[in-house]
Amino acid sequence: MSATARKTAPMPTDILARKGGAPLVSLTAYTTPMAQVMDGICDFVLVGDSVGMVLHGLPSTLEVTMEMMILHGQAVRRGLKQSMLVIDMPFGSYEQSPAQAFENAARLMRETGAGAVKLEGGEVMEDTIAFLTKRGIPVMAHIGLTPQSIHTLGGYKVQGRGAAGTQLMVDAQAVTRAGAFAVVLEKVPQALANQITETVAIPTIGIGASAQCDGQILVVDDMLGLFTAFKAKFVKRYAHLGDDAKAAVQAYADEVTARSFPGPDHVFSDEVSKT
Ligand code: KIV
Repeated sequence: MSATARKTAPMPTDILARKGGAPLVSLTAYTTPMAQVMDGICDFVLVGDSVGMVLHGLPSTLEVTMEMMILHGQAVRRGLKQSMLVIDMPFGSYEQSPAQAFENAARLMRETGAGAVKLEGGEVMEDTIAFLTKRGIPVMAHIGLTPQSIHTLGGYKVQGRGAAGTQLMVDAQAVTRAGAFAVVLEKVPQALANQITETVAIPTIGIGASAQCDGQILVVDDMLGLFTAFKAKFVKRYAHLGDDAKAAVQAYADEVTARSFPGPDHVFSDEVSKT
């Protein structure tokens, strides 16, 4: 069923069932109004740990905390009725052990109402993903460029070129075996993304991957042109709201300076009968 025809939010099993079907549509969101804009248009909405860079001006996602994720998760949840909420597990909240991952994933779901968590890592996270999924926590995996590992990856580089592609295929198969209901492929060569999509039984969600993935995701502030600190090659800007906002702020400043704002429509008379 397309997201626009749906009345209630899909569940992870519905997302899984879309493998090979109509492409899954998703974006990130961090606030209630933005979640309301995409509700029912997106199949699922991700509260990504990109919130740290996009909304809080942090240099990377490494500084993002559980408390930040919960606060933004609750805000987004209030804006969604027809799209599923997925929430990122922040750096340091799941890597130590499956038990640590369960405790934090359960807290994220309990306190935000998210239908699933997303965590970064392939083969290395197989046991953790299996531990979570066997205990009622649906997991979306994230492989390829995993921003929480930029220090070991050496920056935001394309992953899986040449021989490294073999490991990415191993990663995709490992998370599938572990029970993930979908896997994000970030910044991987198109041919490899196609090969993984054809091989694994779960939907692949591309970001800087391939149009042949089972779905796509973008950071909403990137695609709306609101986040302008830098633009990754894989980002397409569908609007230029940052420029629009700047022009609006300048127009306001000009009118305040010229004393033309507030105008007659924006002030009150002392007559009760008038608004
Ligand atoms: O944090 C995030 O926004 C993400 C998506 C870009 C996949 O992980």
